[in-house]
Amino acid sequence: MDFANALSEIERAVSSAQVLTSADLRATYEIDWSRRWKGNASAVVRPANTDELSAVLAVCNRFKIACVPQGGRTGLVGGGVPLDGEVVISVQRLGSISTSEIDSGIVTVGAGVTLGEVQATAARSGWDFGVDIASRESATIGGMIATNAGGMKVIRHGQMRAQVASLEVVLADGSVLKGGGASLKDNAGFDLSQLMIGSEGTLGIVTEARLKLVRQMPSSVVFLVGVDNLAAGVKLVGTLRRATESLESAEFIDAASMDVVCEFLSSTPPIQRSRWYVLMECAADADPLRGVNEALTRSGLDDDSDTAVAMESTSQRNLWQYREQITDAISCLGIPHKLDVGIPLARLDEFADQVVKVVQTTSPGVTVLLFGHLGEGNVHVNILGADPDDESVDDAVLQLVAQIGGNIASEHGVGRAKARWLDLSRTATEIRTMREIKQALDPHNILNPGVLFPSHVSGVR
Ligand code: MLT
Ligand code: ZN
Repeated sequence: MDFANALSEIERAVSSAQVLTSADLRATYEIDWSRRWKGNASAVVRPANTDELSAVLAVCNRFKIACVPQGGRTGLVGGGVPLDGEVVISVQRLGSISTSEIDSGIVTVGAGVTLGEVQATAARSGWDFGVDIASRESATIGGMIATNAGGMKVIRHGQMRAQVASLEVVLADGSVLKGGGASLKDNAGFDLSQLMIGSEGTLGIVTEARLKLVRQMPSSVVFLVGVDNLAAGVKLVGTLRRATESLESAEFIDAASMDVVCEFLSSTPPIQRSRWYVLMECAADADPLRGVNEALTRSGLDDDSDTAVAMESTSQRNLWQYREQITDAISCLGIPHKLDVGIPLARLDEFADQVVKVVQTTSPGVTVLLFGHLGEGNVHVNILGADPDDESVDDAVLQLVAQIGGNIASEHGVGRAKARWLDLSRTATEIRTMREIKQALDPHNILNPGVLFPSHVSGVR
């Protein structure tokens, strides 16, 4: 009865057309890109602006209704899907874009604007955006901020956190927090916008962001090289970073991932078969090859037979697809366990060897695929063939990560997938402080319960 009353109030706030309750209309909102995380929502609410979203949260808070904030559903850790009757609050209709501060290198966008739209807006004004991910046409800025997304350009521009000038966020009780003013420097107390970034929708729902843009680089080169081990890849990246400031991306792909993506693309590897492949992009005002050849020579990798170089956009896109299409290629073969982890660069090679052994001992017969962002030691461990509900392989990988001094969540967030292992990456004091902040901002625990913190709270309470 309480829920029916709450729903009527929510319908009055956003119109009944934007409150989806039938199973067929809800279905697309109940699963994410990984397909491992799916459940059911009691309703999907689609506010059109901050005022509507604020009214919806105020009702949910009063009735103590659990809510799952949701963007483009490109998450991979179950952080944006309802599992057990929560109300989904979709930000996809928050689609405003303002270029009124474009001369300051700032664009202001609603949380539902996709990364692709931000990139296109930036490009039209002679700017670029510092974060890029393969799911750019679906991923929303709100979700990318909530997870502090990383991607292909972190080595040069940092993660989402580094691109945010300030945020507008609706808190659990419906009040609207506007972080910072319009000035470019602001030291007046806590930076609450930064607190929200990476909090995975547990502290508030981002409605609008002022995003910093970066310089457009007119010339670029993309190249793919084969290496025998990841230590050689790390050395190559280090040599390149010392030789030039133009390094924009450094990605790695193992042989198993290359095989899977080649099958998906009905293609063959662009260079001779190798145990590991390193894909890099350099971008500069002019002559992006400056420093590249020298670094390849110093690393003993200048032989044409194992290097592919692309100078123009079509051939560059062609090389990039061997990296960007891996996720979809793996997904075609089953529902993988996806473990996004950060490993100290000095121990990356050791981790790559050990993780395959550890997983295959825990779950014999499964396939392990490794790819990711070499610049940060960010490994995407994908395991095919294990039951989606069996967490023993996840446990084995995350324990190994902790043992080797890495972190359990590098760029996808903790979500529901890794909440029970949070203490492998955060001390008891850190977790206690995080819980105290959560309690202060969301005392009824209505925002994304079960995500980030290891507690499951379901539906209407
Ligand atoms: C990537 O780097 O391709 C994304 O993080 C997606 C994934 O990990 O599958
Ligand atoms: Zn990634």
